[in-house]
Amino acid sequence: MEYLDFRSDTVTKPTEEMRAAMASAEVGDDVYGDDPTVNELQDYAACLTGMEAALYVCSGTMGNLVSLMSHCARGEGVLMGTLSHTWKNEAGNAAFLAGVMPYPLDDLSGLPSEASLKLSYQPEGNVHCAHTVLLTLENTHNAAGGLPADERQFANIAALARDMGLKIHVDGARIFNAVAYFGNDVKDYTRHADSIQICLSKGLGAPMGSVVCGTRSFVEKARKYRKALGGGQRQTGIAAAAGLIALKSMRARLADDHKNAAVLAEGLASVGYGVEKTPRRTNMVYFGVGEHHGDARTFARKCAERGLLVGAAGKERIRMVTHIGLDEKSVADAINILKEINIIKRFERSEVGDVVERIDRQG
Ligand SMILES: Cc1ncc(COP(=O)(O)O)c(C=O)c1O
Repeated sequence: MEYLDFRSDTVTKPTEEMRAAMASAEVGDDVYGDDPTVNELQDYAACLTGMEAALYVCSGTMGNLVSLMSHCARGEGVLMGTLSHTWKNEAGNAAFLAGVMPYPLDDLSGLPSEASLKLSYQPEGNVHCAHTVLLTLENTHNAAGGLPADERQFANIAALARDMGLKIHVDGARIFNAVAYFGNDVKDYTRHADSIQICLSKGLGAPMGSVVCGTRSFVEKARKYRKALGGGQRQTGIAAAAGLIALKSMRARLADDHKNAAVLAEGLASVGYGVEKTPRRTNMVYFGVGEHHGDARTFARKCAERGLLVGAAGKERIRMVTHIGLDEKSVADAINILKEINIIKRFERSEVGDVVERIDRQG
């Protein structure tokens, strides 16, 4: 069966241009710093973000982890939103690999609240506590609905953190979705940060990899941690060639995903789903299924039986993500499938459904 795959923007396949570039990429041993394609990607990423240097890493998780390890010594603390990917979805690596204590922030509305930042902040000098040295900010914020951070609010929270003496790392897995949403420049965010991690393998469509950007000395530390984690790779220009195309030519098309997600959200609401509202929609649509359909996994299975893949993002929460592999027709087809599921469910719950069920039971 051909599936309409709305589970994530990570399911994108490399474009023909990427595949051709990968086939003919100039390569070398990147652990020696000899891979010209990796070096080009790193230079391009540094220039694009206005940072001194960049490092190509295997994944977003590795990018966030090497950043954390480069900014924090063991026994120090990092402030993270409790809905953030670094807190929830990176296998607890801050604690068990970096030896860093994560402190919770309230990031229900994407950026952490000032109140929670002040509450969780732990200054140096208290022998009982790990003192906080770093704040991570996720933009766009996945669990908050793919919410792009407003530039002014981002600058405000960053300024507050700076006043507290904190360094700032941005989990910019989807930073270019924020940039596409506002039509601003990635530097409008990076100028407030010490480092950023950018995924090439999500809406930008590369098959793998992320870049982390920061000062030269930060990147040198990150390079050592990447090696320690087993992320020093050899002729990795093969993959970086696709990453370069992702960064250079795929940013502009993210706006199409946002348009498709807006149509999807409207369509799902019109056929009876409780779509989560968001002040700024990028490429994600979240909705709840509890009332009619039971838990999210059962609902996702029901969708899959009809050729539609959606993500169970919690017990009763479904996530759908638009990306380059899905067009306007895919969105229309998905809405139709979900409409049908809702109609069938309503019928089953109606009096007519009860009668049919009784007849069925009676044989
Ligand atoms: C916000 C965010 N940060 C980081 C990551 C980690 O990226 P990766 O899957 O490449 O490790 C993800 C993955 O979906 C993400 O959504």
